[in-house]
Amino acid sequence: KKGGFAHYMLKEIFEQPQAFYETIRAGISDAVQEMIRDAEEITLVACGTSYHTALIFKYLAEPLCRIPVRVELGSEFKYYPPPLRGLVIAVTQSGETADTIAALKMAKAHNCPTLAITNVQGSTVTRIADTTLMMRAGPEISVAATKSYIAQLAALMEIVNVRCDGKYDDLLQHAHLAIGEVLLQEMQGAVALCREAEHVFFVGRGPFYPVSMEGALKMKEISYVHAEGYAAGELKHGPFALLTPETPVVAICPPGSTYGVMISNIKEMKARRAPIIALGKKGDTELAEIVDIFIPIPDSDPMVQVLTTSVALQLLSYHTACALARDVDKPRNLAKSVTVE
Ligand code: F6R
Repeated sequence: KKGGFAHYMLKEIFEQPQAFYETIRAGISDAVQEMIRDAEEITLVACGTSYHTALIFKYLAEPLCRIPVRVELGSEFKYYPPPLRGLVIAVTQSGETADTIAALKMAKAHNCPTLAITNVQGSTVTRIADTTLMMRAGPEISVAATKSYIAQLAALMEIVNVRCDGKYDDLLQHAHLAIGEVLLQEMQGAVALCREAEHVFFVGRGPFYPVSMEGALKMKEISYVHAEGYAAGELKHGPFALLTPETPVVAICPPGSTYGVMISNIKEMKARRAPIIALGKKGDTELAEIVDIFIPIPDSDPMVQVLTTSVALQLLSYHTACALARDVDKPRNLAKSVTVE
């Protein structure tokens, strides 16, 4: 059933080009498109990995579509409800997360239009929301979300595309090819650093900040190595005190507006003797030369780099967990869907 893969997680990581492509191909119904076009504000509610895709959406949609987006944790929302206006989107792969459902019910009670993004047809969330946008990841068996994360990003990027009148049609149709390119990336050097570490920092800026949060979550979840995802500019406001030669920092440093400032952040961290694992554009020798381990990512649009860097970080956690002989598909204390608040 694992199709020759050692774990379901690895199989599901490899199914990501398809999960992304199928979700894009399925498109968005007219009713959902209308809802998205009519929205003056969007609030997303989600937990865990889905919260990270929601944050990535905020970083993409606010500058590209000029629409205000707020992102709320389902688990906080119910007890400290924000003022509710505009379209509310529940992002939940299982469609059964109790906290996300509770938040969605509150949104309905405030007469907000509601949309569910989920991977499971007929799940609870589809029965509560006004309409549903289905992700096409197929069944995900490993506890850690991987292909459902990528399919969520496909659905959320489609929403950005609708708001931008189809400007990203071509990019989204081809993004699965770049995802496929990253799958065979070797991780040996980076794994050697992470498996020995007690703490690992993941840092990025802009949409790569939530990508780094997701990288850290995956690392904690399946390898049990403590990890923190941080906005790169925030490390010097406290966490620098923790940097040592035994504390690797995984820095996401693609080309673009934050490249220069990321390079200076990396130099500052190196000066504190932290080993640096950097993800950057394939062929970026300037970056490769100043870091300990360089992980090349295909050169592409920032939206696609969000996908490729995420996949590289999934592989890093996966191989670290394997090196530490963890129970990859069934990490201790965790369940696939969390149906209690
Ligand atoms: C992490 C993971 C969890 C889920 C979270 C929300 O790999 O799988 O953090 O993302 O429990 O689940 P859904 O998306 O089903 O609401």
